[in-house]
Amino acid sequence: MKVKKLLALALAGAMVASISVPAFAEGEKVGVSMPTKDLQRWNQDGANMEEQLKAAGYEVELQYASNDPATQLNQIKTMIGNGASVLVIAAIEGDSLGEALDMAAEYEIPVIAYDRLIMNSDAVSYYATFDNYMVGTVQGTYVKDTLDLDNAEGPFNIEFTAGDPGDNNAGYFFGGAYDVLAPYLESGKLVVPSGQTTFDEVATPQWKTDTAQARAENILSSYYADGTELAAWVCSNDSTALGVETALAANYNGAYPIVTGQDCDIENTKNMIAGKQSMSVFKDTRTLASQVVKMVGQILNGEEVDVNDTETYDNGVKVVPSFLCEPVFADANNYKELLIDSGYYTEDQLQ
Ligand code: BGC
Repeated sequence: MKVKKLLALALAGAMVASISVPAFAEGEKVGVSMPTKDLQRWNQDGANMEEQLKAAGYEVELQYASNDPATQLNQIKTMIGNGASVLVIAAIEGDSLGEALDMAAEYEIPVIAYDRLIMNSDAVSYYATFDNYMVGTVQGTYVKDTLDLDNAEGPFNIEFTAGDPGDNNAGYFFGGAYDVLAPYLESGKLVVPSGQTTFDEVATPQWKTDTAQARAENILSSYYADGTELAAWVCSNDSTALGVETALAANYNGAYPIVTGQDCDIENTKNMIAGKQSMSVFKDTRTLASQVVKMVGQILNGEEVDVNDTETYDNGVKVVPSFLCEPVFADANNYKELLIDSGYYTEDQLQ
C-alpha cells in the first residue's frame, strides 16, 4: 500500500497542474474538505475536525470551497497530490466529485463522506452523519404535538420550506417531517394554502436564506395578506428558517406561527429565545467530529470501523456503511443546558 501510494502520489503530482512533489510529514495527513464558510455550522465542523485530528496526532489539510463544486473538486485533487492518507468530505453537491473520487480510488485513499452522502461513486468508504430522517421526524412531531393534531378540530394552515436539491440530506429531512404530517394533510386537518407540497416545489437551492425569504414573502403576500391565519411553517434547517422569520416579521400580522429549524445556529437560537422560532434540532458538531476522528484512526490502523447502519444510505452504486449520530430536540426551554452548559456557546454569544 505504502509503495503503491508513493508511486500514486508522484503520479497525482504530475497529473494535477500546480501541485508540487508531495512532501511527507511525520504523522499521516488527513484532508478535510468543507463546503462553505458562509454557514456557521461548517465553520464549527471544520474547526472541530482540525482540532480533534491534530490532538490525535494527524497532520490536517482543511479547505473550504465557497459553495462552488468545481473549487471543491480541485481542492480534493490537491489534497490527494499533497499526500492525504484519508479524505473527509462534506460535499457541496453529492454528485459533482466524480473525478476527484476516481483519483482517490485509484490511489487507494479511503474517503469518509461527512454529514452529506456522496452519490454515485464506489470510492466512498464510509459515511458519518446525524440521523437525517430523524431530524425531519423530530420537526414534524413537534408540529403535530404543539397543534395537538389528534384532538384539536382544525383545520390549520401550514407551509413547507425544504433544502438544497443537490444535497442528499435535504430529501430525508423533508421526508421525515412530511411523513409525520401526511395523515393530517390527507384528512384535511392540515391545509397548505400555497398548494406547494412536493419537495421540488418547496426546495431552497444551496439552502440560501435570501432565497427562502423571497419565496416566503411571495407566499405571504399571495395567500395570507387577507388575514388568513398561518399555524406552522416547517423549515428544514436554520438558514432557511431565518429567511422565513424575516419574511414573517415584515409580511405577517397574526400571532407568530410555529417555525421549525435545525442546527441551533446563533441567530436562530437568539430567535428561539425571542419567540420567533419555535424549535431547532441540535446536531453537536463535536460529536460528529469525534466519531469521524475515530473512524480515521480505525481505518489507518486497519481495525474494524464502527458503523451502526448498513441499510439506509444507498448512494446509487452501493449502500455505504454509516455511523448515524442522534439529533436532539432544542427549544427555548432546554437551550441553556444543551448549548451553554455543554460549552457549545457562551452566554455572551447569545446576547
Ligand atoms: C446539513 C444541515 C445544514 C444544511 C445547510 C445539511 O447537509 O446536514 O445541518 O443546515 O446542510 O448547510
